[in-house]
Amino acid sequence: MNVLVIGSGAREHALVRALLRDDQVSTVECAPGNAGIAADVSVFPVDVNDADAIATLARDRGADLVVIGPEAPLVAGAADAVRAAGIDCFGPSAEAARLEGSKAFAKEVMAEAGVPTAMARVCRNDAQVEEALDTITRPGTPFVVKDDGLAAGKGVLVTEDRQAAMDHALACIAAGNPVVIEEYLDGPEVSLFAICDGTTVVPLQPAQDFKRAYDDDAGPNTGGMGAYSPLPWAPGDLVDEVTERVLQPMVDAMAARGTPFSGLLYAGLALTSRGVRVVEFNARFGDPETQVVLARLRSGLGGLLKAAATGALAAHPEPQWSDDAAVTIVLAAHGYPESPRKGDPISGLDAAGQQVGVDVLHAGTSVMEDGSVTASGGRVLSVTAVGSSLHEARERAYAAVDLITLEGSHHRRDIAARAATSSGD
Ligand code: AMP
Ligand code: GLY
Repeated sequence: MNVLVIGSGAREHALVRALLRDDQVSTVECAPGNAGIAADVSVFPVDVNDADAIATLARDRGADLVVIGPEAPLVAGAADAVRAAGIDCFGPSAEAARLEGSKAFAKEVMAEAGVPTAMARVCRNDAQVEEALDTITRPGTPFVVKDDGLAAGKGVLVTEDRQAAMDHALACIAAGNPVVIEEYLDGPEVSLFAICDGTTVVPLQPAQDFKRAYDDDAGPNTGGMGAYSPLPWAPGDLVDEVTERVLQPMVDAMAARGTPFSGLLYAGLALTSRGVRVVEFNARFGDPETQVVLARLRSGLGGLLKAAATGALAAHPEPQWSDDAAVTIVLAAHGYPESPRKGDPISGLDAAGQQVGVDVLHAGTSVMEDGSVTASGGRVLSVTAVGSSLHEARERAYAAVDLITLEGSHHRRDIAARAATSSGD
């Protein structure tokens, strides 16, 4: 099977490496990729927002399966275009990807499916925002204001400051998007991914992401600064409960609407004092959670994704998991997330990648003519390590990060720290 992966982040690098480990996969290619992906497989330029260009490339490359990483091409209909070209595709249709593309739409389907989530109101003008801030926000809890459109994890403001909440809401409206004002959800967050074929739901292993830019959850929201899996503190029946109460009802509701969800359904959850609540859905693998989830996958990824793309999941063997723990640390460019600086040289990549249990996955990286690698995006690297415990995995990941130099870069030092301590390993 020839697989073409679309995207250029560390998530796609992790997908490429996991596909290369699968015996059922003969060739892996990627478009547009990055410096690290290009060192592993052939890469091709493509505009990820051009659905027809993706379908044309897939046909030219003789792909048997296209795996679409990021949300933008999905929302732009890339999976529809690939399927229309007669090629199997892992990724939802544009209609189904609206679960991620519009928070208001996701809320509507959750209500239909009876899926537990935060109370919310969609607002289109300042009077509606004023009213919603007062009625939806429970006394003594922060305000939660979300841009309705795609914002790469950066359109959400959680703040105690009413004026800041108001300003953010009005800025979104001024930019032409409705805003969603939500009830604040307390409790730890979990990301649970499910492979879906429109009918059947196969959950993967849960992971936790660190969304804020700096240690101790300070600073602005980002695309994600690190992740780990498994979650030693999570209830043993979490995956079963979320599959039964959240994932399967959503897939059933989408099928009933005539827009079946085939691809990866990402449930962002809060384990609140009042039970599990959905924070958001995404329609694709999460970044950086994918790096740790796939590091623990023992069975073949290509066969699983192909089964999802062809509606054959019910008959496919369950994924197998290693008992290892995995931790990933995101190295971000100077100025990320507000204004990442491009062009800084990166050194120490080879030494870091040679450490035991370590995978240096690339995100925003480019190769210069002299072969050197420079930063070309906000999140630059996702340094991933496995170990027999979370403690060992994080020691290895941080030791590798410390071998890498990128001027002005920043990364969190507390990824998986609490979980590694509380699990006693
Ligand atoms: P989203 O883009 O909806 O995933 O939101 C990004 C991040 O904002 C989430 O991962 C949470 O950390 C935070 N967040 C979003 N919605 C809420 C909420 N209702 N209560 C508390 N935190 C939230
Ligand atoms: N890690 C958050 C996301 O992929 O949206």
